[in-house]
Amino acid sequence: MIYTLHEHAESTVVADEPLARLIDVGKSYGAVRALRGINMTVRAGQVTGVLGDNGAGKSTLIKIIAGLHRHNEGIMTVDGKEVNFLSPREALSHGIATVYQDLAMVGLMEVWRNFFLGSELTAGRFPLAPLKSAEMREIADNELRKMGVVVKDIDQPIGELSGGQRQCVAIARAVYFGARVLILDEPTAALGVKQAGVVLKYIAAARDAGLGVVFITHNPHHAYMVADHFIILKLGRVVLDKTRADVPLDELTRMMAGGDELNELSHDLQVGR
Ligand SMILES: Nc1ncnc2c1ncn2[C@@H]1O[C@H](COP(=O)(O)OP(=O)(O)O)[C@@H](O)[C@H]1O
Ligand SMILES: [Mg+2]
Repeated sequence: MIYTLHEHAESTVVADEPLARLIDVGKSYGAVRALRGINMTVRAGQVTGVLGDNGAGKSTLIKIIAGLHRHNEGIMTVDGKEVNFLSPREALSHGIATVYQDLAMVGLMEVWRNFFLGSELTAGRFPLAPLKSAEMREIADNELRKMGVVVKDIDQPIGELSGGQRQCVAIARAVYFGARVLILDEPTAALGVKQAGVVLKYIAAARDAGLGVVFITHNPHHAYMVADHFIILKLGRVVLDKTRADVPLDELTRMMAGGDELNELSHDLQVGR
């Protein structure tokens, strides 16, 4: 596969084969139709911003790509081949990694232990084989530096890091373990302005490392800082699907704020006075 990394969507050099693709995908939870008719393409070296209000279907969408839930309409492909993931582990084996808002980390364990959580290096194949601590410490330290993540001490408990830093460690970990698609569910939602900025920087770093990033957020400003492509979901449907060159920030913001509905509301509030 040949692809070219680039800084802006305006330069339309794209992978000849998308990493992942959803074609007319739908999902129902019993009687609740959470998603319908979703088309989406994940390409190497690009960030897709998925926006939408609460209940729009954002988490459902990424749970399908991540192998946590199964779609019951349409087709999902990875590297051009149809897939039906039965588990997150299966998605991961295809290079699809997900960073959830409530990170699966152990607060009291060191940064490096968390970096290798579930994928520890051991000397030998036995379950009780000794951990290669020195090697893991060094790799974690190097990888975090490479991504530009600054932690005071690789041995400090990860619980002492800020929420933003923990998100960054999770992103660096996904990059190190060979993720090709990185899915981030509202990574900036609980963060202040400065910390959100740091996380956005690492999203850009993951993109520059050639990953295809799916960035879920309800903040159009955050999406606009890093995304090449935007999708807005509303009640399970795509209501906007545009590249960065085709949508200005104020249009995104207006669509997210519910534009027309806000106008109507404002009218209704005036009328009553
Ligand atoms: N496990 C589930 N069982 C039943 N309904 C669900 C489940 N998960 C989500 N839903 C419903 O699907 C819709 C989309 O939810 P979700 O994907 O969580 O949206 P978002 O992440 O955009 O807030 C909502 O109506 C929600 O109540
Ligand atoms: Mg959600």
